[in-house]
Amino acid sequence: MPDPMHFDLHAEVYDRGRPDYPEALWARLQGLGLLNPGVRVVELGAGSGLATGRLLQAGAVVTAVEPGAALAERLRERWPEADVEIGTAESVPLAVGAFDLAVAATAVHWFDLDVVLPKLHRALALGGHFVVWRNAFGDPSMPLTPFRERVAEITARRVDHMPRSAPGELDTDRWVDRLTRDGHFGATHIEEFSWSITMRADQIHDLFTTFSDWNVTEVDEAAQAVRDLGGAVVEHYVTPLIVLRRATQ
Ligand SMILES: C[S@@+](CC[C@H](N)C(=O)[O-])C[C@H]1O[C@@H](n2cnc3c(N)ncnc32)[C@H](O)[C@@H]1O
Repeated sequence: MPDPMHFDLHAEVYDRGRPDYPEALWARLQGLGLLNPGVRVVELGAGSGLATGRLLQAGAVVTAVEPGAALAERLRERWPEADVEIGTAESVPLAVGAFDLAVAATAVHWFDLDVVLPKLHRALALGGHFVVWRNAFGDPSMPLTPFRERVAEITARRVDHMPRSAPGELDTDRWVDRLTRDGHFGATHIEEFSWSITMRADQIHDLFTTFSDWNVTEVDEAAQAVRDLGGAVVEHYVTPLIVLRRATQ
């Protein structure tokens, strides 16, 4: 069963192992007028600050919320300009109307949305937005690469397949429905960014170590697959973005 504290146990590897979000996503957020200097942002599940730094660089005033103590420590060291709060999205106190923008980067699937959506509705000012995106590490629309065939062989051996109740990472329509159905938010922009990256065996080892559903043996096998394939592989990834506007009522 995936454990939300998996990331904190691997804080150092997480920090160096996760690739950045695509530049086109940041350009879109700015183009949509969501990321302006002085905008008050609450970032939920901030991890080691992969998105936090870019929010700060855009001139945002950032409150970063992270339940993992080791990750929060890294956040504080790396981004002292951010106000770092240790807590979950469900438990952290957020003042009424205190923010213009809420952000969840590869994190919303960990939240209890029955709690978090009404809470963000209260915490956002009138006209505020909640922006959700995630890196999906694998693009099913691309032809299977030799490395992805090896990955599929590794995951096919798993015996403890848990039935999913939440939408899958690329079930964007179902995510939109889940995020809007209680009426606190309406979707205003939906987009998927496809991108590719060349990864060495050590980088695949780091990245796959951060996946909460991969065990140590499987991670070693994935890195070995990269070495068998010449030491580097091209990976195709997708980043779905959902922009939600706070309902006026
Ligand atoms: C995949 S990581 C993403 C971290 C970071 N946002 C990024 O883009 O790299 C998911 C993060 O969500 C955090 N998390 C898990 N459950 C949470 C919850 N209920 N509330 C807030 N954050 C949570 C984890 O500690 C972890 O840092």
